[in-house]
Amino acid sequence: MFENNLSFARNLDQKDPLKEYRHKFHIPRHEGKEAIYFCGNSLGLQPISVRESIDKELLRWQQLAVEGHFMGETPWLHYHKQFKGPVSRLVGALPEEVVVMNNLTVNLHLMLVSFYQPEGKRFKIITEKGAFPSDQYALESQVKFHGYKPEEAIIELQPREGECNLRTEDILQTIQTHAGELALVMMGGLNYYTGQVFDMQAITQAAHQAGAYAGFDLAHAAGNVLLQLHDWQVDFAVWCTYKYLNSSPGGVAGAFIHSNHAYSANLPRFAGWWDIMNKSVF
Ligand SMILES: Cc1ncc(COP(=O)(O)O)c(C=O)c1O
Repeated sequence: MFENNLSFARNLDQKDPLKEYRHKFHIPRHEGKEAIYFCGNSLGLQPISVRESIDKELLRWQQLAVEGHFMGETPWLHYHKQFKGPVSRLVGALPEEVVVMNNLTVNLHLMLVSFYQPEGKRFKIITEKGAFPSDQYALESQVKFHGYKPEEAIIELQPREGECNLRTEDILQTIQTHAGELALVMMGGLNYYTGQVFDMQAITQAAHQAGAYAGFDLAHAAGNVLLQLHDWQVDFAVWCTYKYLNSSPGGVAGAFIHSNHAYSANLPRFAGWWDIMNKSVF
């Protein structure tokens, strides 16, 4: 039974299976003592091991220069392959469904190139009211890029009067109501402001039933809550790694595309190095 007192909290800390991990990070100091850090939702702490890892790569660059792309334990050319295993486990994906590249917002735009294909009456996007500002700008600019007005194309979900969280039944109902005109449902998997975790599986299923795609911003979910993106049939997801994944400010972001789409010739895409359709995958 929960008790609201210090010794109860200390006792829980003692039993916490993750307690040893605290010592693996540099904790900033405040007034001579280790701070209690509640800002991992903005920037994760520096892992103690990171300096050694970076030093290793700097040494490889110093000694190998361009050969570092191909030689040694961690050839840079194949960097994405090194991340596939651990990153796919983090988000519940198949290794070939994830990549680590760019930042979250760039990845979101790339996903929208593929998964926001408005046509005729089907041009609307459902998202959360008060979604993270950069997500709002990304959606608005994509809608305008396709020649639509954001106020007509973007439908914002909001909690009932007097409530802070969205009810799943209301999200699903909104999707159903707009079924004929919906191109995409794109929202946080875990709301950055309220901390609410959404039922991504149910939302994805409802979006598909409405003939739309479903994608999630997992900035606050990756490394924080259990995810099963593959099994939930989520079409795409993007996340940053500098929060709960402690990758550093500017750390490279993640992207997921369900294997259902990987080889689909109909999916518009902006290709780069790893264009699976042209078989130039390293
Ligand atoms: C929920 C959410 N979405 C998107 C972003 C933007 O990510 P980036 O600036 O790395 O593209 C953030 C950053 O804090 C965020 O918290």
